[in-house]
Amino acid sequence: MKFIFMLLFPFTLFSLSTFITKSEYAQQLYKNPRGIACGLCHGKQGEGKLIAKYKHKNKEKSFVGPAINNIQYTVFYKALNSRIKGMPRYYLTPKEVEALYFYLHRNDQKKAKNAQ
Ligand code: HEC
Repeated sequence: MKFIFMLLFPFTLFSLSTFITKSEYAQQLYKNPRGIACGLCHGKQGEGKLIAKYKHKNKEKSFVGPAINNIQYTVFYKALNSRIKGMPRYYLTPKEVEALYFYLHRNDQKKAKNAQ
């Protein structure tokens, strides 16, 4: 009995991980990437966001998360593997970075069609 369980266990694990679609996985990662959500600083769709306004030496300043849904994959990948001022370091795997990029660009084809 125990033997059968051990034999089946890896398969149940595998089926669990394939239970969600690539799209759902990517969305979850964007919302909860083992740390604070990307969307809090970069906007829900990666369109960029004003995080805060403040005054420094009597000058109005703003802290902005730039748009990240309009950059090349290599730029995106490099950024996530380097230290960025004002952004937490996530230590994502290449697969995770790819999923995030996929998430931010999932509607590109639709957008292009609508623009025609
Ligand atoms: C606490 C706010 C914050 C969070 C959370 C955050 N970022 Fe950022 N991110 C920033 C800021 C601020 C910059 C721009 C820094 C600069 O201008 O030097 C930035 C820059 C970037 C860049 C580089 C953009 C470019 O044009 O070079 C990428 C890519 C990026 N973030 C992706 C992400 C992803 C993906 C996540 C989630 C895993 C994330 N960020 C979470 C604040 C944040």
